[in-house]
Amino acid sequence: MRLILHEKMHSYKMKLRELAPELEKLTQDPKILDMQVKLCGCGLSKKKPFCDESHRLIQGEKPGVLYAYDSKPSGTLLENEYPEPQKQ
Ligand code: FES
Repeated sequence: MRLILHEKMHSYKMKLRELAPELEKLTQDPKILDMQVKLCGCGLSKKKPFCDESHRLIQGEKPGVLYAYDSKPSGTLLENEYPEPQKQ
């Protein structure tokens, strides 16, 4: 069991050509190469590495509060005192 901290609230969007450059050896079709893929940045997707829109669950999270999520659709508050990361 491990605890992993995710601070992103959204997905990363990438084109297939960025994700798999070797694909250009198979096709030059820009419809395929420029197709956008959404990768999970929140850590909650059940279809990793792809975003499955589970990040919608965390949109109401408050800054400075640590949330823990299990396999249930709602988040569980783990602890309510968590210092904000220092900006440099
Ligand atoms: S970013 Fe994680 S499910 Fe969308």
